[in-house]
Amino acid sequence: MRILAVASEIFPLVKTGGLGDVTGGLPPALNAAGARTTTIVPGYPAVLGALPDAVAVHRFPDLFGGPATILRGTFPQAAGASLDILAVDAPHLYARAGNPYLGADGREWSDNGLRFAGLGAAAAAIGTGIVPDLAFDIVHAHDWQGAMAVVYLHFHDGPRPGTVLTVHNLAFQGRYPAALFPRLGLPDSAFILNGLEYYGDVSFLKGGLSYADRITTVSPTYAREITGPENGMGLDGLLRHRAGVLSGILNGIDDATWNPATDTLIPGRYGRGRLGRRDANKTALRQRMGLDEVPDALLIGVVSRLTSQKGLDMLVDQIDGLVAAGMQLAVLGSGDPDLEDAFVSAAEWHLGSVGCVIGYDETVAHLIQAGSDALLVPSRFEPCGLTQLYALRYGAIPVVARVGGLADSVIDANEAALVAGVATGIQFWPTTAEGLQAALHRLLALWRDRPVWDRVQRNGMAADVSWRGSASRYVALYQSLLAERPAREEAS
Ligand code: ADP
Ligand code: GLC
Repeated sequence: MRILAVASEIFPLVKTGGLGDVTGGLPPALNAAGARTTTIVPGYPAVLGALPDAVAVHRFPDLFGGPATILRGTFPQAAGASLDILAVDAPHLYARAGNPYLGADGREWSDNGLRFAGLGAAAAAIGTGIVPDLAFDIVHAHDWQGAMAVVYLHFHDGPRPGTVLTVHNLAFQGRYPAALFPRLGLPDSAFILNGLEYYGDVSFLKGGLSYADRITTVSPTYAREITGPENGMGLDGLLRHRAGVLSGILNGIDDATWNPATDTLIPGRYGRGRLGRRDANKTALRQRMGLDEVPDALLIGVVSRLTSQKGLDMLVDQIDGLVAAGMQLAVLGSGDPDLEDAFVSAAEWHLGSVGCVIGYDETVAHLIQAGSDALLVPSRFEPCGLTQLYALRYGAIPVVARVGGLADSVIDANEAALVAGVATGIQFWPTTAEGLQAALHRLLALWRDRPVWDRVQRNGMAADVSWRGSASRYVALYQSLLAERPAREEAS
């Protein structure tokens, strides 16, 4: 079974958040489960630079305003594995340094519609076998940036592979003025209520959701949440309509990158048996964050985009109380300038007790996981969330809002779970300041009951957060699509 994944990010070549982690971490697990995966990505400078030996396999004379070459290359990973990559080398669309979506002024590139329609159109053409020797059974698109591949395949004349669209975050929909539509090269019949049209605009995500053979999201709970008006972001009606093909498959983590026993980004490497070695990481983290070396002070970490989704404005309001209770806080994040300023001010005000690094820094992200006692994720909504999975693996007890994938991946330390010996963290609900405050009190109480704390920490480290189980669920989904191939071919 051959899979063509379509994505705008892939770690370690290009990443702005969890999407890159998933598209980089899932292929090795799929390959191991018998679904050979190639990922098609835009040829940003970082991607082309990482594939020096890539070879041209196809040329489009005009891909939305200029020529494009499809380059085929491999990127080596740990333990002899590698990522198979197709890069769309289209300089007029992607030869721009920095963030894949934003210009240096922090605003979206004005031609993002064409840039990601280009990715989708190229992926759809490859998916239908335009390149000899490159045949695919399934095209698996990720988020709105990959969604147009599904749309172009739906309108393709002739046999086509099955399509899957995975929604990593319904908040981002790829919505553009109707004036874009005539440039997309689609029949007029695509610009309808049950297609790409969304309140008079073009919505890439809606197009993908309308036409995909299967829709997945990144946790079972989020799959349920998005069919209701509260979390449906205006698309819940469509998602209810398509509920029969919608499912949630929880993300896993890339074990080679996120493994405390082999992590080269942290000073003290450890496993469940050598937890004492975490102390070196806590000390290094305190130094990096300007925190005092206070014996027994509980250190809480945060690694996050600073946006309203993540609920960290509520944390800002709790900082005085948290410090008064003797806890310390280490924050790594970037995003909303008001929130960035709020954490910088808190760090100045509570010198030695609160530290922050504003910006994007892989090394600090690993150090927080390896050196914090607890990791806080107070999201208002969270399709899956990866930082709490890393925290489980690294022995930082996750404190999470009970939403989306956070609800599905952390077992709350309530009485029943403690008695059964299965608790792995703390959940709270609703996601309000009071809810968060109560969760921090529970955390402190747990910290003071060291044998129970140790048990919860070890349970978390033993939890299976790998891709194995979820990769087999994707493979089962792909197989169900293969079984429908004769019907698809008849319809084409
Ligand atoms: P989302 O994709 O919504 O941002 P996830 O929890 O799924 O949330 O994934 C976030 C990913 O981005 C994780 O790998 C996390 O470590 C990383 N990350 C987030 N913010 C930063 C940052 N400021 N510096 C380094 N890594 C970050
Ligand atoms: C999105 C979501 C996050 C999820 C990630 C990877 O960025 O916000 O919850 O973990 O995608 O699926």
